[in-house]
Amino acid sequence: MSEIVIQVDGVVKSFGKQGEPIWKQIARKLRKPAVNGCQPDPAETSLTPNGRKPAVQEDSNGNGDQKQIVAVNRLSFAVHKGEIFGVLGPNGSGKSTLIRLMSTLLLPDKGQITILGYDIVKDSFTVQKLINRVSVEASFFKKLSPMENLIYGARLYGMEGRETRKQIVTILTRLGLEKRAIYGPMEEMSRGMQQKVAIARALLTRPRILLLDEPTTGLDPRSKLEVQAVVREMRDNFGVTIILTTHDMVEADKLCSRIAILDHGDIVALDTPEKLREMVPSENGRETTLEDVFLALTGREFDPEAEVSETLDDIGAVLSEVTEESEETAILAA
Ligand SMILES: Nc1ncnc2c1ncn2[C@@H]1O[C@H](COP(=O)(O)OP(=O)(O)OP(=O)(O)O)[C@@H](O)[C@H]1O
Ligand SMILES: [Mg+2]
Repeated sequence: MSEIVIQVDGVVKSFGKQGEPIWKQIARKLRKPAVNGCQPDPAETSLTPNGRKPAVQEDSNGNGDQKQIVAVNRLSFAVHKGEIFGVLGPNGSGKSTLIRLMSTLLLPDKGQITILGYDIVKDSFTVQKLINRVSVEASFFKKLSPMENLIYGARLYGMEGRETRKQIVTILTRLGLEKRAIYGPMEEMSRGMQQKVAIARALLTRPRILLLDEPTTGLDPRSKLEVQAVVREMRDNFGVTIILTTHDMVEADKLCSRIAILDHGDIVALDTPEKLREMVPSENGRETTLEDVFLALTGREFDPEAEVSETLDDIGAVLSEVTEESEETAILAA
């Protein structure tokens, strides 16, 4: 097996309760002073009956209403040089959090990630030079053209001059952007075209590791194929190691050498697409697809009736929370 370029060891990342209004946080603190003021240790919290950790865990002060979201839960795996390593999982399963951790944008609560032997916390500056990331919500100077945006991005990596401009045109053209669009304002471009510019910006710096968070979401079928071809080319011609998150099972199947399936921040399976498909028996003589595996492993088999009743339950829960909040507002105001 080839050289390990990314090593993830026991990584945990939690976030505080999402969306809790500031007045509610203050009211809660006034009502119930924290016992020890410490954050709970996600690794020490209890397991669910099936032995897995719940994604949302109660704070250790036991008041029962302060919750933490464990976005990434003791993840461990290694990625080898030249792999296209897929990360699949339902919405909120921790894929983007993992990518943000790898790209030094977040600090792990526990555990360690090394990239080409460099620790993402201690050697963050070196890691930043070795990687580049494309996120699903890439940001640009919208009044400027793709050329101007990419020149700006390249300068941050110490690249400039005529050669860089030539490379920019080559990459953007390769990704299917018309010459005209290269020099027009970004704000006049479709989302798919903007996504291609984001990919070009990442490729330009010739990263050793490319972190692609849903790079083809929102692209039309032809653009998708163009981007997928470029991703393969980066691996084949430049030996780039790629981490790819996607909701497109066919894309994952086609591109990835191995795939990790996340659910509630845990890895529920990690193997080659072929081996993953073998995990789920075929039904009615139909070949098992990666989608079948995904649905089976993430416990979200599609049952329209169950989906409707779950949605109604969710709406009910939101409504009762809103009522509770307005009652608390009334009490505070009184
Ligand atoms: N900055 C943040 N603050 C609070 N909670 C966060 C933050 N970022 C992510 N989370 C929570 O962490 C969990 C994992 O989120 P993440 O974005 O990693 O999921 P994902 O697998 O990328 O989902 P998607 O498929 O929708 O992109 C979710 O419950 C999310 O709400
Ligand atoms: Mg995401």
